[in-house]
Amino acid sequence: MPSGDLRVVTPPDGVFATGVRVPGDKSLSHRAIILAAMAEGESRVSGLAPGADVATSLRAVRRFGVEASRHRVNGGPWQQPDGPIDCGNSGTTIRLLTGAAAGRPFSTTLIGDESLMQRPMDRLVAPLAALGARVETNDGGLPPVTTGGGDLRGASVTIALSSAQVRSAFQLAALQAEGSSTIDGPPGFRDHTERWLESFGLGEKLEGAAFRVEPGPIPATEYDIPSDPSSAAYLWASAAIVEGAHVVTPEVSLNPGRLGFLSILEQMGADVHGEVTGDIHGDPTGVVSVAGRGLRGVEVKGSTAAAAIDELPLVGVLGAYAEGVTVVGDAAELRVKESDRIGTTVAMIQGLGGAAEPTEDGFTVIGTGFLEAGTVFAAGDHRIAMAAGVAATGATGPVTIDGASAAAVSWPTFYDTLEAVWSSQSMDQEG
Ligand code: S3P
Repeated sequence: MPSGDLRVVTPPDGVFATGVRVPGDKSLSHRAIILAAMAEGESRVSGLAPGADVATSLRAVRRFGVEASRHRVNGGPWQQPDGPIDCGNSGTTIRLLTGAAAGRPFSTTLIGDESLMQRPMDRLVAPLAALGARVETNDGGLPPVTTGGGDLRGASVTIALSSAQVRSAFQLAALQAEGSSTIDGPPGFRDHTERWLESFGLGEKLEGAAFRVEPGPIPATEYDIPSDPSSAAYLWASAAIVEGAHVVTPEVSLNPGRLGFLSILEQMGADVHGEVTGDIHGDPTGVVSVAGRGLRGVEVKGSTAAAAIDELPLVGVLGAYAEGVTVVGDAAELRVKESDRIGTTVAMIQGLGGAAEPTEDGFTVIGTGFLEAGTVFAAGDHRIAMAAGVAATGATGPVTIDGASAAAVSWPTFYDTLEAVWSSQSMDQEG
């Protein structure tokens, strides 16, 4: 049954070319808010991501008695919240705050919306327990998560998942421990937290994917958040679908753990250029341009799948427009995102007349070179809602997105920007 929350996206008339400043990076925004809240004194923040998830992190740190707005965060000692903290739809908020709250001398309980209450939190238990932290979930390893109260001591852990959220939770707790700690695990994760801690003198990259945390006071500082490559990816993908179309995005995070999708685009035949032009506390930023020139199928696996995890629904869309077969594997994590993204990606492509099948740890798409008009159910997932908008790029008719407002979790004005890009208006979308 249609929900009434519909958006009809009509394919562009032809080739488009423009430059777009996309909104601030969501991963870096959460980290800036939480690290600034943990610091002593006032930090200044600019360019925060505009969506509901980052607003959730701001509200959440206020519950610990921290003064926090979109431009200033006044960090200091945290007080016990007066009830459970609602982390909304945001996995990064609940997981990073679990780490940050683990070392406090009081108990904190974290909950979320219907989707977040179904997402696994048990992955946090062993790494944080190694530090001496208490982390309780429900019997199924799901929220509510309750933590805090313990004295933490340094520990060395190796995790099985390539997860920046788990690594960051461990690191935020380890900053409050007695003695140094190390964490190791498979590559492909975004190492934003690690680069910032290293630049603050609070840790060091070791061999491979290992990182040592050195406890100490977190400095109050300035965070000038670059654009979000996971948002820019929708515009890059749309350009890649249309031969001769061209999109340029300045000041995007170019953290290596975020570059998987660009390397996939390149392998699929798009014309991709990236150049580092700066950094934020040691984390590279730069300009990316993508031009369409015909797509071929691709195989995505291993650390590339991890480094493109949020963009894999888009890989499915591109696969439909490509010549040949696209296979995504080693991506079982997709099943526990804001929706089961293996199921929702396949349903999106099938719903638009494309050929896609799920596999245990990913999906296969047989490129037909086109998609048809149709309706896509966003399943409450912002990335599916936005990928469906991109799927309209080369479709034979309009794509209706049922549950379109889910996009507001990371990019509230996404559809307007997409349509403006298609009419080749240059615009500024800074949050
Ligand atoms: C994020 C890490 C990734 C990613 C998520 C944001 C982060 O999750 O999918 O959207 O900011 O640390 P995992 O840590 O579960 O891989």
